[in-house]
Amino acid sequence: MAGLTIRPMTPDDVPEAERVSDEGFFELDTRMQRISGPAPERRSDQHRAVWIERTLHLVGTDPGGCWVAEDETGMVGMATSYRRETLWCLATYAVLPGRQGQGIGKPLLAAAMNHGRACTRGMLSSSSDSKAVRVYRQAGFDLHPQMYLTGTIDRSTLPVVEKVREGSASDIDLMDSLDRGARGAGHGPDHELMLRTWRLLVSDTTTGSGYAYLNERGQLALLAASNRRTATRLLWAALADGPADVTVSHVTGANQWVLDVGFAARLELHQEGYLGLRGMKPPAPYVHNGALL
Ligand SMILES: CC(C)(COP(=O)(O)OP(=O)(O)OC[C@H]1O[C@@H](n2cnc3c(N)ncnc32)[C@H](O)[C@@H]1OP(=O)(O)O)[C@@H](O)C(=O)NCCC(=O)NCCS
Repeated sequence: MAGLTIRPMTPDDVPEAERVSDEGFFELDTRMQRISGPAPERRSDQHRAVWIERTLHLVGTDPGGCWVAEDETGMVGMATSYRRETLWCLATYAVLPGRQGQGIGKPLLAAAMNHGRACTRGMLSSSSDSKAVRVYRQAGFDLHPQMYLTGTIDRSTLPVVEKVREGSASDIDLMDSLDRGARGAGHGPDHELMLRTWRLLVSDTTTGSGYAYLNERGQLALLAASNRRTATRLLWAALADGPADVTVSHVTGANQWVLDVGFAARLELHQEGYLGLRGMKPPAPYVHNGALL
């Protein structure tokens, strides 16, 4: 496309990249809004701060994985990606509304994917956008539908949860080993970021181990465990400690145990987006994060 430049993202680009992605996702949410769903909202100041911190972290760990597209009008697109061991992950990918479908996104994704060319596995969480799913499938990703559970917790359903404790940096080796079992690669430096911004719950017993992060809104952000029993225990602990209005996102068909907990807590089941995978099967028992997967 004439006048288009694709270049590496720098830390100074991050606030503008945040604006481009917020525009892209707000327009997407408006376009895809469900009749019964909540009205789309712009990113809150709190969410914006978390987004910027995460993106600065990724530009720091993976300067070769984060790219922007610009023309004479300024930044029109952005993609952030990173390598963890043998796994390449796409964190965020957006083109300004009004500039989509004009050939900007594909060279951006190609630049990001080049960063992962030596990786044997790939992972991303796709929106339901018709262009996004087309581009990801063309790039060789298998698309696995994602479900989510939402509603107001019926607190009378909460079981007594034992053998779950607060986690800390001393749990990183345990968590990286659980990550390798689930997705073939540890989160490595991302655990340091998540520990800084989120709350960590850990269960480590003779019969199984696992961990769960609760995000800045108290909602489940990521969960990995060595077996379903431990995963179920951690999900109940997360629900018990979270807000009354809860959403458990990014549930794949390989994780039916999440539905068992959600239905027991009287939550409603819906579908949104896809887990895109290359060279791997849907991790289980595991609830991935949208950007840190
Ligand atoms: C996904 C996104 C980044 C892709 O960038 P883009 O600039 O639109 O992508 P391109 O124009 O390079 O490629 C889009 C592809 O979809 C096709 N396309 C264009 N309009 C389309 C439509 N309405 N429906 C389906 N396909 C469409 C294009 O023809 C092209 O495919 P082709 O090269 O095989 O012909 C961008 O559309 C976007 O920001 N969407 C909203 C946010 C989002 O969903 N981001 C991804 C989140 S995981």
